[in-house]
Amino acid sequence: MARFTEELRRRHANAEAGGGPERRDRQHREGKLSARERIELLLDEGTFEEVDKLVRHRCRDFGLESQVIDGDGFVTGHGLVNGRRVFVFAQDFTVFGGSLSESNAMKICKIMDHALRVGAPVIGLNDSGGARIQEGVLSLGGYADIFLRNVLASGVVPQISAIMGPCAGGAMYSPAMTDFIFMVDRTSHMFVTGPDVIKTVTHEDVSKERLGGGMTHNSVSGVAHFLAHDDADCLRSIRKLLDYLPPNNHEDPPRRPTADPPERADAELDGIVPDESNVPYEIRDVILRVVDEGDFLEVQEHWAKNIVVGLARLDGRPVGIVANQPAVLAGCLDINSSTKGARFVRFCDAFNIPILTFEDVPGFLPGTDQEFGGIIRHGSKLLYAYAEATVPKVTVITRKAYGGAYCVMGSKHLRTDVNFAWPTAEVAVMGAEGAVNIIYRRELEQAPERNALRAERIAGYKDRFASPFAAAERGYIDDVIEPRETRRKVIQALRMLETKVDTMPRKKHGNIPL
Ligand code: HXC
Repeated sequence: MARFTEELRRRHANAEAGGGPERRDRQHREGKLSARERIELLLDEGTFEEVDKLVRHRCRDFGLESQVIDGDGFVTGHGLVNGRRVFVFAQDFTVFGGSLSESNAMKICKIMDHALRVGAPVIGLNDSGGARIQEGVLSLGGYADIFLRNVLASGVVPQISAIMGPCAGGAMYSPAMTDFIFMVDRTSHMFVTGPDVIKTVTHEDVSKERLGGGMTHNSVSGVAHFLAHDDADCLRSIRKLLDYLPPNNHEDPPRRPTADPPERADAELDGIVPDESNVPYEIRDVILRVVDEGDFLEVQEHWAKNIVVGLARLDGRPVGIVANQPAVLAGCLDINSSTKGARFVRFCDAFNIPILTFEDVPGFLPGTDQEFGGIIRHGSKLLYAYAEATVPKVTVITRKAYGGAYCVMGSKHLRTDVNFAWPTAEVAVMGAEGAVNIIYRRELEQAPERNALRAERIAGYKDRFASPFAAAERGYIDDVIEPRETRRKVIQALRMLETKVDTMPRKKHGNIPL
C-alpha cells in the first residue's frame, strides 16, 4: 500500500509543480498568478475539489513523449463561491504555454458536462498560447468539442470567462460564446490574428496592447464586459457577479436580506431632470438612488456609454437595469448601444432576472455611419430582445420617449408588464421643433409672421405631446408617478410580478436579426 500511496503522492506533486519554479517565477514577474493560485482566490477557502489531476497527454511527436506533466497543465474541478457550487477550469501557462491538448480539452468538456447536468455555472480562467501545436488536429478537435458545449450550455447555466494572459486564434471563440468576459488590464490579450500577421497582411503597425488589450476590448470592440486591475481584482469581481446570478435557468436568482426599506422615498429624485429638456443629466444618479443600498454592478461600463446596463437588487431580489444615458449622445440609441442592450436583456431573460428600464431617449442616432453600418439590423436586436423577454418587465420613462425608440425601450406594446412615467416625460413621435417643421411646413412658408407662428405651433405640440398624459390616457402608461416614489412603486410592481408566467409560441428558435 505504501508503494502505491507514494506513487500517488509523487504524481500529485508533479501536477502541482506545473512547469516548475522558474516558469512560475516568470509568471509572477509578469504580474500574473499561477492557475492554482487563481482558483484559490476565486473559490471559498478549502472548497476546491480537483478532477482529472492525473490525466496526461498522449502525444508521441516532437519530443513531447519525454515531457509529461500530470494534469497536462489545466486545472479543472468544482468548488463553492459564497456557498454555491461552481465548476472551474484554469489554464496553466507554465505548462506548454497553457496550450490546449486533446487530453485537457477532454478535461474541460468533462466539467462542462457535469455543470450542465447538475445546473451550476462554469468559470474559465484563460491564459494560453492556443492549440497545442505538436498535437495538430487533435487539439483543434478539442476546441470544437468545447465550442459545442459552450453553445449547449448557453442559456442553461451561466458561463463566465476571465482572460488572464494570451487568448488568440480560434481559442478566443470559446470565451466569446460565454455570457461575460473579464479581462485583466495590461496582462491579457485577445485577438483572432496577432500584430505580426496583421503587419504581413495589411501592413498595419499595431501593438499587442492596442490590438487586443483589456481596455481595447472593454472600450472599443465591446467584446469584454469587465476590466480588472490585476488577477486578484478580476477574481473578486467574478465572485461579486456570481452573487446576482441563479445557478441555472430553472432557478431564481438569489435573494439577499436588505436593510434598505422598500418604501424609502428620495426627494432628490424630484430635481434630477433639468427644466430644459435638452440639458443632460447622469442616469446613474437615478439608478443609485432607486436600488437597494445604492449598489449597482455596471456591465460594459466603458463601451457604448449612451446606454447603461448592469445588475442591482430591489427588495433584495436581483434585477437587470437598462437605462438610456442622457449625458452621452443625449441618450440616442445607435448600433453599439442597441447591441449592448439587446445582449444584456437576453441574458436577464434567459436567467429569470427581471428587467427594469429607465427611459430617456430622443430617438435613433441619425447619420450615414449608422445607416451604412446597419442600424436597422442592429437596432432591431434590441426591439426583438425586449419583445421576446418573458421575465417581469418594468419601465420608468424619466423624460424623452420619442419615435421608434419609444416602442423599443420596454414599451407596453412589447408586453412590458408595468410602465411608469415621471411628470417630466415626453412621449411623442418626435421633438416639438422637428414635428412642427414637418406638419406645418406649408403654413409656415406662407405665414408673414413665420417665427411667431412657429413658436405658437411648437407650444401647442408640446402641450399635447411633451407630457406623459396622452400615453397615460390610452393606458400605455399605467401611472404617472412622482420621481421620489420610484423605488416604492417599482418594488410593488416587482412583488406583484413575482409569480408571473408568460411564454413564447412553440418554435425551434426565433431568427433574431444578427
Ligand atoms: C505548444 C506552446 C504554444 C502552443 C506557447 N508554447 N504556445 N507550446 N503549443 N500553442 C510554449 C512555448 O514553446 C514555450 O515553451 C512556452 O509555451 C511559453 O511560450 P513563450 O513563447 O516563451 O511565451 P511568451 O513569450 O509569453 O509568448 C506567449 C505567446 C507565444 C504569445 C502565446 O508563445 C505564441 O505566440 N505562441 C503560439 C501561439 C499560436 O500561434 N498558437 C496557435 C494559435 S492557432 P518553453 O518550453 O520554451 O517554455 C489556434 C487555433 C485554435 O489556437 C483553433 C480553434 C478552432
